[in-house]
Amino acid sequence: MKLLFASQNKHKIEEIKPLLPSSVELLSLTDMGFEGEIPETSPTLAGNALQKAQFIYDKYKITSFADDTGLEVAALHGEPGVYSARYAGEGKSANDNIEKLLRELSGIENRYAEFKTVIALVGHGQPLFFEGIVKGTITKEKHGTNGFGYDPVFMPEGYDRTFAQMTLEEKNKLSHRSRAVRKFAEWLREKEGKI
Ligand code: IMP
Repeated sequence: MKLLFASQNKHKIEEIKPLLPSSVELLSLTDMGFEGEIPETSPTLAGNALQKAQFIYDKYKITSFADDTGLEVAALHGEPGVYSARYAGEGKSANDNIEKLLRELSGIENRYAEFKTVIALVGHGQPLFFEGIVKGTITKEKHGTNGFGYDPVFMPEGYDRTFAQMTLEEKNKLSHRSRAVRKFAEWLREKEGKI
C-alpha cells in the first residue's frame, strides 16, 4: 500500500518510517518533487492535520496523511499549543521558539507540559484521526542535540533526559508522535487483514 506523508520535515519521516507496517510504501513530498507551501490555518491540531492531508491528497490523488503537533504548557494556559511552530513569530527558528518559552517560564516552578500529535488520513472514505500524547516537563535550560523543535527542553515523565538527549529509538518508544503512529499502524494492519 502506498501512503504519502504530507510533510517536508525529514525528522518526522525518520521517526514515522520504522513504526509503519513493512508492507507500506511510504512516499514523501520530496519523492513527489513538491516544494511549495501547505496551508495550515485551522485553530485546532486536528483541523490543521486534516487541511494538510486533504491538500496533498487533492493534488496527487494518493492516500495521504499529515501530522500536526502542539506543545501545551500548563502554566501558560495551554500555550503555545496549535501555534507552537510560530511561537516566537513568523519565520523564526526552533531555537527562537525555545528561547521565548524559557523566557515565559522564567521564575515559574510549575513546568508541566504535554506534547500532542494528531494524524489525519485522507483517501479511505471519511477522514480518520489518530492522537498521541506524552506528559512531561519543560527544563530550565536546553539539553542535548538530537531530534528537532522543542526536544532540547522537553523531558518526558519518568525520565531524567530530554528528547534531545535520547536516540531516535528511545524517543520513538514514548513520544506523542510514535503513540499516534502506532494507533495508525494498528488500523492499517487490521485493514490489511480484511483485504
Ligand atoms: P508541526 O506539527 O510541524 O506544525 O509542529 C509544530 C511545532 O512543534 C514546530 O515548532 C515543531 O518544531 C514542533 N514539534 C513538532 N513535533 C515535535 C517533536 O517531536 N519534538 C519537538 N518539537 C516538535
